[in-house]
Amino acid sequence: MTSLVKGYALAGTMLATVYCGLPAMAKGRPEAFASKADAAAASLEVRMTDEERLNMVRSTFSRTDRTAKPLPADVISSASYTAPVTRLGIPALRETDGPLGVSWVSGSRKDGATAFPSSLALGASWDPGLAYQIGARMALEARAKGFNVLLTGGVNLVREPRGGRNFEYLSEDPLLTGIVGGQGIRAVQDSHMISTIKHFAFNAQETGRHVYNALISDNAAHDSDLLAFRLAMDIGKPGAMMCAYNRVNGPQACGSSALLTDILKTEWRYPGFVMSDWSAVRGISDLGAGLDRQSAEELDARPYFAEDLLKATRTDQQLHRRLRDGARRVLRSMLDAGIFDHPAIVQPVDPQAGKELAEKAALGSIVLLKNEGALPLLKNARRIAVIGGFANDGVLSGGGSSQVQPVEGPAINMPGNGAKHRIMFHRSSPLDAIRAKLGKDAVLQYDQGFYPAAAADMASRADVAIIFATQWMTEGLDAADLSLPQGQDAVIAAVAKANPNTIVVLETGGPVLMPWKDQVRAIMEAWYSGIGGGPAIADVLFGDADPAGRLPVTFPASEDDLPRPRLDDSNDPERDLASQSQTIAGFDVNYNIEGSDVGYRWFARKGVKPLFPFGHGLSYTHFSYSDFAVHDGPYVQVTFTIRNDGDRAGSDVPQVYVRNRAGTAGLRLVAWDKVALEKGASKLVSLTIDPKVLGDWKSKNTGWVVPAGNYEFFLGSSSGDPRNIFKTKISSKKER
Ligand code: GLC
Repeated sequence: MTSLVKGYALAGTMLATVYCGLPAMAKGRPEAFASKADAAAASLEVRMTDEERLNMVRSTFSRTDRTAKPLPADVISSASYTAPVTRLGIPALRETDGPLGVSWVSGSRKDGATAFPSSLALGASWDPGLAYQIGARMALEARAKGFNVLLTGGVNLVREPRGGRNFEYLSEDPLLTGIVGGQGIRAVQDSHMISTIKHFAFNAQETGRHVYNALISDNAAHDSDLLAFRLAMDIGKPGAMMCAYNRVNGPQACGSSALLTDILKTEWRYPGFVMSDWSAVRGISDLGAGLDRQSAEELDARPYFAEDLLKATRTDQQLHRRLRDGARRVLRSMLDAGIFDHPAIVQPVDPQAGKELAEKAALGSIVLLKNEGALPLLKNARRIAVIGGFANDGVLSGGGSSQVQPVEGPAINMPGNGAKHRIMFHRSSPLDAIRAKLGKDAVLQYDQGFYPAAAADMASRADVAIIFATQWMTEGLDAADLSLPQGQDAVIAAVAKANPNTIVVLETGGPVLMPWKDQVRAIMEAWYSGIGGGPAIADVLFGDADPAGRLPVTFPASEDDLPRPRLDDSNDPERDLASQSQTIAGFDVNYNIEGSDVGYRWFARKGVKPLFPFGHGLSYTHFSYSDFAVHDGPYVQVTFTIRNDGDRAGSDVPQVYVRNRAGTAGLRLVAWDKVALEKGASKLVSLTIDPKVLGDWKSKNTGWVVPAGNYEFFLGSSSGDPRNIFKTKISSKKER
């Protein structure tokens, strides 16, 4: 290898470790992040009795406000708890949710935590370093509450744009999801906590989530959702995998030997343990399939991993070996994370640093979709109308197990249209933050936005109208469609008609349709922006911060352009409850329609133009790219220069896509960088392309194969901006 390539490769790999996710051990899989913990765990497990082994493979539902049975004195109200094995010095396991901060466990906890922006917002930041910072802060707060397992690391692809939990997922692309998700997981593991990675796999919708059957071929699976899991695992080294509720190609995910044994533990040689999702276990046979731990056993039909299991192992040696292996895997991940040597100590934590990080995260993720000279706003603006979105109270958050609340509690807490969870807004008012930016003689008025005529009347008397629009999403329920709910489209249209200088600020859990797009002058996507959202939105509106986010998901122009124009099966909140009790029949969701062409790849394959493309986002300055080149070698390297040739500091996300591989057309993100530059500054960027992203998965023995031939790459500011094209030959490569 020439020194140049070697230099790039080395530099690229080092960079890649942080930004392209190509970990140092990427050459095949001699040892999937095994560690000395494996030996220590084995020597500990061999000394255990079967009763002690059983203790490690089960956990109790530990919501102290919900659990009828008496709980051990050292239980902390949360998702689940496993008792210590004092005889052997094995500590208790206390598990709490993420991924948006330390969960308030649906209100059973009042101690507060930092409420970070949604995972989709983090995906929109395209910033793995930010993901690491948030993971580290979340772990610090969780440990200070006594927890040593963080149920975070949601890396399901946003395959279904109406999916109720899309706000908990990072993006529609496996590389973006894998790298950003992997860094968040790594931060938790580096903080002496076990991190999960979840939900394995294809839990892309909430409708019938306990019973729907995801159909997908092995190849398409490995080049999409499973690739995201693999990339995130290689970077994050999570101690635990959480299997999903749904079925995959027939079996329940938590009872699928194909997923848990053949792929995860054999093909990928995963050394950690598999825990079930809460009420996702169907029987002892799940242990045989590769499940290692029944979570919150009271929520299943039976505590399967209990006396029944112990009795069965007396006669079933295979099951007994699985029991021992499961216990050893749990111990191995506890030792690998350092839980024995670094116990979580309950102690107070100053919330200020968390709040500042949450605001920084919101600033890094806000996406400016459209701007016809309306933004940034002038601080000497005279008459401003602010409408809708409960902007006078706070910013929207998503519902479900990931819900976080600061100690002050929610700004708004109201019923969630039939879903189990409630609609909550965090105490971070955009209106207050806007007011703080304005001069003393400004006239700032607010209207709730419930009535189009009233909102339009106020807007007609203002110099500028800022209208907030919300789309509440929650675990357990999908969006019925992609239109803004509660008649908000009509309010926006009325306001835009009354005042052409209208700015729309979206607070959504995923993509939405925008029938009014051409009638407004600016559109900003703020996502669920967390406890620092109000000030962050105002900073971007008034130009005190450059909009730094780029879309992590495609915004379609019509649901008819999607692989499934309508959600499979009905969208009934009660169905989730019924499906949880498995009292309804399952149904197939055919992901083979799009296969691995999720999101922008589907639109490219169909030749359909979206409303706003994956990777899109505007800046207040201008960036140019030059000297784009792709260098073949053992690992393909990409180099280019980015320059801020505008008149102010700003951020950009230059993205590299391949769109033809050895004669096969198909769009894929293969590398990117997140860059902040002062005006006039430039940066030479060198990135490494992971063969798993450039290639196609062939088989468990071969892994991913990069075909030799002529390739066409482009460097652009989004998947729809092929600004700099580079064609070159690429030699064949393999990666397992
Ligand atoms: C939930 C979620 C999972 C969460 C777990 C514990 O139902 O599916 O993401 O970690 O239960 O709350």
